[in-house]
Amino acid sequence: MTPVLSLTRVSKSFGGLAALSDVSLSVGPGERRAIIGPNGAGKTTLFSLISGEALPSGGEILLFGRDVTRLAPHRRAALGLARTYQITNLFPRLTAFANCVLAAQALRPMKLHPHRDLRRYPEVLHRAGEVLAAVGLAGKADATVQDLSHGEQRQLEIALAIAGTPRLLLLDEPTAGLSPAESTTMTTLLKGLDPSITLLVIEHDMDVAFALTDRITVLHYGKVVADGLRHEVTANPLVQEIYLGVA
Ligand SMILES: Nc1ncnc2c1ncn2[C@@H]1O[C@H](COP(=O)(O)OP(=O)(O)O)[C@@H](O)[C@H]1O
Ligand SMILES: [Mg+2]
Repeated sequence: MTPVLSLTRVSKSFGGLAALSDVSLSVGPGERRAIIGPNGAGKTTLFSLISGEALPSGGEILLFGRDVTRLAPHRRAALGLARTYQITNLFPRLTAFANCVLAAQALRPMKLHPHRDLRRYPEVLHRAGEVLAAVGLAGKADATVQDLSHGEQRQLEIALAIAGTPRLLLLDEPTAGLSPAESTTMTTLLKGLDPSITLLVIEHDMDVAFALTDRITVLHYGKVVADGLRHEVTANPLVQEIYLGVA
């Protein structure tokens, strides 16, 4: 089967700093993969290269079997890629529902007409309700973003990311800054997402990563140092030394 995502010897330098060096990675359809590694390991940079917000210094990136190495971000989104950010990306004064409406119409070929009644776009409204429910926020549709808790805002970000029915979803630290209870809610929500969505999750916390996925890629100083199933990764002496803090 054609991989959903395939990276071959991808590198990225910022001036003299090699943020990523020769990263190769292949993710199959429906797979759920966690990317872990210490701060500064290059995880977010990896996502920016996959989404096209940054261009690699070397290597090749295939999405759904197509070479997208230098393709613009909106063209990759149109192929079925969506991502969330470490930093919130919501409209704070709009309601949760309105944020979803904007996200649901963003990828349509016909944009909403600003002066036309929203009821003339029933499929957009339907999709907005659907994605709110999928992230457990159906009861918060009319709340403005600024009145949602931090955990609910992070849930809403997931709703926006899935509104365009992506085939590949990149989540950058979805549990960052959440309380233990909020983190559990988020983990459950992510596990319940449509299984046909291929998921790549950057996760700082190894326990959350293993709760979400079977397969983990470990980045360290811009290099893949381990890639495999839980027992393979945790048995790796280098991973124990650099990530688990085992001497
Ligand atoms: N736009 C940028 N300009 C210069 N250096 C950057 C930029 N983005 C990231 N870096 C550097 O690249 C390295 C990897 O960063 P990042 O991908 O954000 O790591 P992570 O997400 O794993 O914490 C860090 O040393 C960071 O300072
Ligand atoms: Mg990061």
